[in-house]
Amino acid sequence: MSKLFYPKDYKFKDPKIRNQKELQDLYDRFANDFEGTWDQFAKEKISWLKPYDKVLDDSNKPFYRWFTNGKLNVAHQCVDRHLEENKNKVAIIFEGDDGKSDVITYRKLGQKVNRTANLLTNEFKIQKGDRVIIYMPMIPEAIYMMLACAKIGAIHSIVFGGFSAEALRDRISSAAAKLVVTADGAFRKGKSYMLKPIVDKALEIGCECVKKVCVVKRNFEEIVIGDKDVIYNDLIDLQSPKANSPLHDSEDPLFLLYTSGSTGKPKGIQHSMGGYMLWAHLTMEWVFDLKPTDTYWCTADIGWITGHTYAVYGPLSVGATTVIFEGVPTYPDAGRVWKMVEEYSINQLYTAPTLIRTLRQHGPTEPEKYDLTSLRVLGTVGEPIDEETWLWYYNEVGSGNCSVVDTWWQTETGGHMISPLPAATPMVPGSATKHLPGIWAEILDENGKMVTKVGEKGLLCITRPWPSMARNIWGDTDRFVESYFNKNDFAGNMIYFTGDGAFYDEYHNIVITGRVDDVINVSGHRLGTAEIEDSVNKHFYVGECAVVGKPDKIKGEAVFAFIRLTEPCDEKLILKEINIILKREIGSIALVDSLLVVDNLPKTRSGKIMRRILRDIAKKEEVKGDLSTIEDPSVVAYIQEKFKEKY
Ligand code: PRX
Repeated sequence: MSKLFYPKDYKFKDPKIRNQKELQDLYDRFANDFEGTWDQFAKEKISWLKPYDKVLDDSNKPFYRWFTNGKLNVAHQCVDRHLEENKNKVAIIFEGDDGKSDVITYRKLGQKVNRTANLLTNEFKIQKGDRVIIYMPMIPEAIYMMLACAKIGAIHSIVFGGFSAEALRDRISSAAAKLVVTADGAFRKGKSYMLKPIVDKALEIGCECVKKVCVVKRNFEEIVIGDKDVIYNDLIDLQSPKANSPLHDSEDPLFLLYTSGSTGKPKGIQHSMGGYMLWAHLTMEWVFDLKPTDTYWCTADIGWITGHTYAVYGPLSVGATTVIFEGVPTYPDAGRVWKMVEEYSINQLYTAPTLIRTLRQHGPTEPEKYDLTSLRVLGTVGEPIDEETWLWYYNEVGSGNCSVVDTWWQTETGGHMISPLPAATPMVPGSATKHLPGIWAEILDENGKMVTKVGEKGLLCITRPWPSMARNIWGDTDRFVESYFNKNDFAGNMIYFTGDGAFYDEYHNIVITGRVDDVINVSGHRLGTAEIEDSVNKHFYVGECAVVGKPDKIKGEAVFAFIRLTEPCDEKLILKEINIILKREIGSIALVDSLLVVDNLPKTRSGKIMRRILRDIAKKEEVKGDLSTIEDPSVVAYIQEKFKEKY
């Protein structure tokens, strides 16, 4: 049996959920009165500007509506409402790549957000419902922009700064955005890099919808200024620091965030204002034990969902201090993160297993050199954490005194779904433990029947709606229903299918086994095999290819390609050239790590590549599942043999 790690009481002063009994009581409250319990939390945590008249409208499943006709303003919730009592409290500590920091109080944040909101309205003529693309480094202006959009009801869609011009173009066009906000560039590892030329390129190859580009000057390098470009720094101080908080509907979209699916182009996941904010706020309090007096650091970039919910909206809604970092956690050395924890006396640290593995590899004893006693909760997200890494985090970073919360969730869920609660849940290394109160997570078999036996694998599903669930895929309602709600729909319930496999351990904890679809998880970043394959297939000598995830010691998974060539070529050269295409079409995060050239790929009789077979081969596992539909069974042994020879 795996060892249980019990929370250390003395670290927690008055946590929201104090112990297992209180946790059980909360489960019971939700079970006995689902809507009434949500109602109570919604009233307690959200400053409604006009009360809602219904907690949950499920008359048009799976298009659930939460807190119907309630009005709020997310910028008011995250900033303005804190001003009366806490105006000079620090909202954001920003640390630049160069180590210089800037402290932004709630008052200053409020003024910046208002000025930015006025800029959006006056200069860029942005109105409620318009889409604004944010393609920015991790600097405070990116957060002002998010909150300014929220304030006026514009829908932001942040594109991670590592995506290429073509990937940016696709997202801008799909969202039909009127405005792109970017920076001239920023700093990484002591060097300046550029972003604006990537926006220029994206606009050159498409995006007629874009009327203006707003450029924040950060590195002050020379840029080409075109007709559409407006410099933020020239205009921002001319705007009034005052702005109204218009009333927005609970169901109005707050943002779109593009994420990879198993097929086709990335999906613009659409989140709401009311339900999303409630769950962001509640999970900050429950999972991180976040208090308004805490200083908290989530290392995720705002280009990912973690950066949205847990670097910006969640911590600011609670009224805490959130740390925003421009640089790279291993620069100038592997002590950077620990130095920052000491310097800002950080109470909760939230990061990805890949970063923990990297920091450990570069400096296993580095945490000892710093005073990390301020830490109370250590979070992980985005990918499974192996036991060894978990134990290092727990023992070396937390000195065995902090709770480790392995949080399972997705872009689509908006916030945490499965996680230990730091003062209440006994932890098991490598397990996100149990679903949170208010969340119904079940493991179902292929036929929609509940899996109950320890160790039996099934599909992780969410069987009841929750407030922060995705509301739609932008512009593709059919795909929304098809991707998430068409499986395991038994007993008349609409069941949300997560795309992950899972099983129960001996404590009835949920252990996530990873994606069961064609999605790869590299360093906690989601990549669709179809997108990568589309690009790889563009190489002149690639006849066909299949891409899968191959286990990697640091990144969790690395991209591995099985390729059939039309002409014999040098493998190293092919890899190099394929990666040039991938860098151009998607970005550096999607590069192929290694490949195997084969004469044939396993296919069904109808010609579909059987990627699951290749997944098993890349994992060096026995090839499982039904092979009766395979066109030529001898291909499996042939590829296995070739793979063994090389890897
Ligand atoms: O496979 C799961 C994995 O990341 C996927 C969601 O990716 P994304 O939407 O990019 O969101 C990442 C940040 C929330 C999931 O389907 N995943 C996420 N958290 C965990 C995880 N796998 C194992 N353990 C986790 N804690």
